[in-house]
Amino acid sequence: MALDIATFDYDVLVIGAGGAGLRAAIEAADAGCKVGLICKSLLGKAHTVMAEGGMAAAMGNVDDRDGWQVHFADTMRGGQYMNNPRMAELHAKEAPARVKELEAWGAVFDRTKDGRILQRNFGGHRYPRLAHVGDRTGLELIRTLQDHGVHKAQIEVHMETTITRLFKDGDRVAGALAYTRERGRFQLYRAKAVVVATGGCGKAFEITSNSWEYTGDGYALAYEAGAELIDMEFIQFHPTGMVWPPSVKGILVTEGVRGEGGILQNKEGKRFMFDDIPENYRNQTAKTEEEGWRYVCGDKTALRPPELLTRDHVARCINREVKAGRGSPHGGVFLDIASIRSPEYIRRALPSMYHQFKELAGVDITKEPMEVGPTCHYAMGGVRVDAETASSTVPGLYAAGEVAAGLHGANRLGGNSLSDLLVFGRRAGLHAAQYAKSLAQAPRPDEGEIREAIAEALAPLGRKGENPYTIQSDLQEMMDRNVGIVRAPDELEGAVAALARFREKLKRVGVGGTRSYNPGWHLAIDLRNLLLVAEAVARAALLRTESRGAHTRLDHPDSSPRWGKVNLVARLVNGEMEFAERPVDPMPEDLHAYVYGDKA
Ligand code: FUM
Repeated sequence: MALDIATFDYDVLVIGAGGAGLRAAIEAADAGCKVGLICKSLLGKAHTVMAEGGMAAAMGNVDDRDGWQVHFADTMRGGQYMNNPRMAELHAKEAPARVKELEAWGAVFDRTKDGRILQRNFGGHRYPRLAHVGDRTGLELIRTLQDHGVHKAQIEVHMETTITRLFKDGDRVAGALAYTRERGRFQLYRAKAVVVATGGCGKAFEITSNSWEYTGDGYALAYEAGAELIDMEFIQFHPTGMVWPPSVKGILVTEGVRGEGGILQNKEGKRFMFDDIPENYRNQTAKTEEEGWRYVCGDKTALRPPELLTRDHVARCINREVKAGRGSPHGGVFLDIASIRSPEYIRRALPSMYHQFKELAGVDITKEPMEVGPTCHYAMGGVRVDAETASSTVPGLYAAGEVAAGLHGANRLGGNSLSDLLVFGRRAGLHAAQYAKSLAQAPRPDEGEIREAIAEALAPLGRKGENPYTIQSDLQEMMDRNVGIVRAPDELEGAVAALARFREKLKRVGVGGTRSYNPGWHLAIDLRNLLLVAEAVARAALLRTESRGAHTRLDHPDSSPRWGKVNLVARLVNGEMEFAERPVDPMPEDLHAYVYGDKA
């Protein structure tokens, strides 16, 4: 019987409509391609908006000592040298042009007194580097790209549409299967090239800044199509999420608060960040409150306060204070901007934070401190891509944004995500378009595989079995407990065993209702991806017997020179996840000079 589902043909299919996906779609359309843009929820709603504090680009508008070389060095140091150096170089060089392009497309950045784009401090960035729009930078980025992209006739947007499988024709990518959220209708997208830009996997954890869409879809789709995943052990816990009330636990509190001078204190009123300054940041970190204060007041000869150390370190310090019983009443620490800046300044520079705390927690941040604690925010690992083209190892398959790996190494600097989306979103769109145009004939998905993928997606419907919500909440609780900020080998082994049990349960997952308006069914499908990604994270974390960046092992508290030389690669071999070590991409000779003399 003929396959009776809606079918669309594109040169380039972009899966994911956050910053990277939108930027890729624009570039591919400008190259003359017909583009399908798939959005799991509504256009404009993406984790991109959770990068609030700004977009890192060495424009030197606030401190002219900045330049791409310093940005490159900061990114490599922040990533503990696990980064792909060529990606870090391209990112640092191209970010300023992407910011100016966004401005030309209508983004309304905050301004210096003389009218240039204002840049603020952020953790691990040596100079004020984050171009921003108050604390709504990601939102402005999405809004601008959306405004720019929707006028392009070559882009067709499919909202509330979830991709469940990628297809190949031989070794080449050939398209994807999706279902629509409202009616559960299957759709086939045939495409010459596919860009995966689906964001992260934060919904594998309980306390997270990610919303429901972030179930690791892109990692799973690419991996099952034969792509490699690297660095999956490096999960970023943003140091500051809301901790109270329980209904808002995990919602992001932008690093922009600390960028504007905000200080962290424990319940004894102590600025505990001064207690532990890592060796390789000593030469740029204030040792006294007085010196930190001078920096905040604009003294360029002073050193930066320790609240502006990298996220991995700040999250660990907060975790330490809470575990030692020095936390705030609701299990976080205090973040104070009220005693640093005037109410007018706070409302102007941090309008979302002001409203967020006022409305969700009944706290006036111009008068009192916030309570904050770490929240799962970002995955540094993901699909291994070529630095120049953003292509994966599968012909025709590209990846950009959070789902791609390499730029950030073992720990991402705040603000490097928005510029990553633009730099590598553009590159992915450009090279996917070039590839699509080079094909004499469009590859074709196999009909049998399409039927099989439909049957697999439908399997949970009407089956009496395990509840998908129970599996997800058990998974999240287990991942927070066993694969969190500080990891122990027995807990990681427990995680791997628990994941095997969840996978067994998933085989029996069942949901009632029909294909229409059925979020339980959608979750049952998403769980496959979540469990796969969680397995990659837990197993990689067990294998990496050292502490580096966002990966901290209780039994191996130091970094090891051996592990510093390798990325861990997960790939699908004969139906099983296999891990291999791959040498970290070498630093080209000409870039050595820019990296400070503190490489471990
Ligand atoms: O804290 C923030 O505003 C987040 C920024 C980022 O993740 O890049």
